Amino acid sequence: MTKRVTLEVSDYALDLGRPLGSGAYSDVFPHSTNPSRVLKVLRGEADVQKLRWLKSVSLTPSDPEHDYALPGDLAIDSEGRVVGYAMPAAPTGALDLEYVLGASGWLPMSYLIRVARNHARSVADLHRAGLVRGDLPNSLVTDAGAVFEVDLDSVACYENGLNYSCNTGKWEYAAPELIPVLESCNFRSMTGHDVWALGVVIFQLVMAGVHPFDCHWLGAGDRPKLTERVQSGLWPYGRRHADVEPKRDAPDYDQLPSELRQLFGRLFDRGALAPEKRPDIEDVVDVLDALDTGDDVTLSPEAWEVVRIGGGPPARRHSRSDVSRLEKPLAAASLLAAGAAAVWSGVVSAPVAPVGVVSELFSGPNFVSGSGQSPRDNLGEEQWLSSVSSSTPPPFPVHLYELEAAASGETPTLWQILRRRTR
Ligand SMILES: Nc1ncnc2c1ncn2[C@@H]1O[C@H](COP(=O)(O)OP(=O)(O)O)[C@@H](O)[C@H]1O
Ligand SMILES: [Mg+2]
Repeated sequence: MTKRVTLEVSDYALDLGRPLGSGAYSDVFPHSTNPSRVLKVLRGEADVQKLRWLKSVSLTPSDPEHDYALPGDLAIDSEGRVVGYAMPAAPTGALDLEYVLGASGWLPMSYLIRVARNHARSVADLHRAGLVRGDLPNSLVTDAGAVFEVDLDSVACYENGLNYSCNTGKWEYAAPELIPVLESCNFRSMTGHDVWALGVVIFQLVMAGVHPFDCHWLGAGDRPKLTERVQSGLWPYGRRHADVEPKRDAPDYDQLPSELRQLFGRLFDRGALAPEKRPDIEDVVDVLDALDTGDDVTLSPEAWEVVRIGGGPPARRHSRSDVSRLEKPLAAASLLAAGAAAVWSGVVSAPVAPVGVVSELFSGPNFVSGSGQSPRDNLGEEQWLSSVSSSTPPPFPVHLYELEAAASGETPTLWQILRRRTR
């Protein structure tokens, strides 16, 4: 494993400590002397030509609320091989988008719309510059809803004689026509694929993390896999397919503003099997711009902390080995939403853990009101944006390691904690 790299242009040697983030293909390390930079070290072979080209790409974001970690100086290992690159660090405190998706059931809608808008604007800038984002999503988000795109070595470009493709993607976000070739790692990502993936992200943001093709299966036999349903265009909200209907615990789709529903319809209903009918990125930006209030949507430090220690999103659940990525080895279960005892009662069976040590990280469910109704039910469009913050009290974080045992040798369970908190 690479332990030390030298930056090619600055000729500055850096020791690699503990990664601050890891993906499927690489580890990202803090820059030991410059906190405004990080170092990405690839596990496989680097496409040196592409990295050199990316270094020359200069892209000024059209808006201060999104930015890009474009590759800078290349990182060379002790054998003289290019193994990665330096890049700007994400803003302090920013979290991977998946954390925000995991908390989208209770975060204020005005904040979620801001994240969606910034993401759409960011992808639009890339498209205008002749770049295909590919492998969406790959971004970090701040408490104010700003979006910082990372993993930009996966962008594609087919302009000006270039032929750099992305060749990777995520199953949940892959457009129907990409699914059969995704595994081959040999395909051309196009701007339309970005719009599809971004549409899935936006849907998850405004629908409490539910994937657009998550469904309650009414058809004969076993429910087909998600990717099969996507490929068959079995979109449960279009009401054209008798075999699928919305998941029982999904928020009420009809409460979404009509512009958003039309956008999703063009993408996932009419556009599922006919890519030419899908909206383009500018259409997406227009809809989100119109829905954005323009207000300051910055979350409180407490709310952001709950996002940080909360569970992963439906799209990618954290496994035990991912717990270290959450940077809190002895942390923590976050139990979402006040009054959550009813939700959790009987649902969570806690592991046996010695006091002061948590052996498992729990993923809380997205907030579901005790009545089984979506918090957005019966709201007019105007109230919709503020609905989640006004109808859903902020959740409280519970740090297991802070809890004292009632009796010596006792192990606090989630159920005991909830009872203490809600008593
Ligand atoms: N510029 C950056 N600043 C801060 N964290 C980053 C940065 N780039 C990547 N990361 C972290 O590292 C993780 C993996 O990076 P990524 O480039 O997506 O790797 P991979 O190519 O393996 O998917 C990201 O999910 C993020 O948490
Ligand atoms: Mg990545």
